[in-house]
Amino acid sequence: MTASPAGRASSAPLMGRDAEPTLFEISVPGRRAYQLRTTDVPARALEDLVPAAHLAEAPVAVAEVSERDLVAHVTRLSHRQFSVDLGMYPLGSCTMKYNPKFCDAVAADPALASVHPAAPAELTQGWLEILVNLEERLCAITGMAAATLQPAAGAAGELTGLLLMRAYHASRGDVRRRVVIPDSAHGTNPASVTLGGYEVTTVPSNDRGLVDLEALRRVLGPDVAGIMLTNPNTLGLFEEEIVEIAAAVHDVGGLLYYDGANLNAILGVVRPGDMGFDIVHMNLHKTFATPHGGGGPGAGPVAVAAHLVDFLPGPRAVRDGGRLAWATPARSIGRVHGWHGNALVLARALAYIDVHGAEGLTRVAQHAVLNANWLRRRVGEILPAAHDRMCMHECTLQATLLKERYGVRALDVAKTLLEEGFHAPTVYFPLIVEEALMFEPTETESPQTLEALAQAIERIAERAATDPEGMRRAPQTTPVARVDEARAARHLVATADTPRPL
Ligand SMILES: Cc1ncc(COP(=O)(O)O)c(C=O)c1O
Repeated sequence: MTASPAGRASSAPLMGRDAEPTLFEISVPGRRAYQLRTTDVPARALEDLVPAAHLAEAPVAVAEVSERDLVAHVTRLSHRQFSVDLGMYPLGSCTMKYNPKFCDAVAADPALASVHPAAPAELTQGWLEILVNLEERLCAITGMAAATLQPAAGAAGELTGLLLMRAYHASRGDVRRRVVIPDSAHGTNPASVTLGGYEVTTVPSNDRGLVDLEALRRVLGPDVAGIMLTNPNTLGLFEEEIVEIAAAVHDVGGLLYYDGANLNAILGVVRPGDMGFDIVHMNLHKTFATPHGGGGPGAGPVAVAAHLVDFLPGPRAVRDGGRLAWATPARSIGRVHGWHGNALVLARALAYIDVHGAEGLTRVAQHAVLNANWLRRRVGEILPAAHDRMCMHECTLQATLLKERYGVRALDVAKTLLEEGFHAPTVYFPLIVEEALMFEPTETESPQTLEALAQAIERIAERAATDPEGMRRAPQTTPVARVDEARAARHLVATADTPRPL
């Protein structure tokens, strides 16, 4: 067989429709999947070690299975999962890119993984070096003065940033009440503002999908603590008037918070610090080699401009002469995570940054933007872009034509894509776009894979014309067929007992 000159992309839908039994269903009394080491520590009765008040009255039900059955069960389940290692995962706003295995190897190195977080700085100079180096690299990438590596996720970074904002204003005796957010913002932004003790003021987007500068000027005032923006914004568009926005917010004494979830789009090209931002969080578990989703663990470091460094959470690893030490900034807001954050995620990020180098990181952003624009143009006649002009790393498309012609909606397109062997894009987000399908191809997908996705979308458009009813029931070939999502979310069955049928 000869290789096709253009190469060929492969992707396949998940298979296997037989219901997988739970571990409780395959449990047999007396079976064990573990063996404990023999030890010379004398056996003690449980009652001698645990106060009676904390002892369970009856044994807790646990599944009893052999190692062989356990491994088979978990392996079967893993074959029914879609993942970034299996195929394309164009879930807009989530940056589900392929993460190099090299970074996994770094994080698994026992020299890093087996160090106790309470070990003193004198014995852990290597780990501190990693943390200081990562902080310096992240500050160079964002154009900021210093950073905390503690927050465990983007949303945790947002809350940290808002607490920093509050501490900064309080230190000046300035009581401010509101934080401004555009109407296209990610849901965590208003949630973090509320948790941070501020009120949300929403500013509308204009017909170009960008912050409406005049509307922003109207809502700004001396009680505004700051604005939270992501740039590129959640429509995948670059806020072109960011310098004017920054000036308007700074003029009323507010601070600019950069939601760096979309940093993948601008790495090495433009820095939030140069756009006028004062506080930046970064989702290391998107841009820097840790998979996003599935509940973590992640890392959402927060970098700040010079006037906020004194308020950063502590302790931070710092250079202290020729040594490295832990230090807590003078007016620190305190800890935002136990120990030093999700340290192995931090090690992976440093490995990713150093292996790419400055030029490599710039290429990451350039290719991410190129791939999104290629896809936007390639499928635009089927799924028109919400704003048909140059996008950044993701494109917000719409299923409006398919809906008008065949009654097929964004959800149906996304579900049918699963039968084609691709993960679905983000749907119905941002909320301000009708029938939104937000694709983020990322830089790690090849032109062949992008073309395969485009062809799958073409097949879906043909099917919409002939079999709209079938599409409304799709997927039918995957391990779990179409579920009633609202009901599944509201009727949670979190029990080991045999679930009642929905
Ligand atoms: C724009 C934006 N902001 C914030 C977040 C929150 O990040 P995390 O999921 O790590 O809390 C996300 C997550 O996808 C996002 O897309």
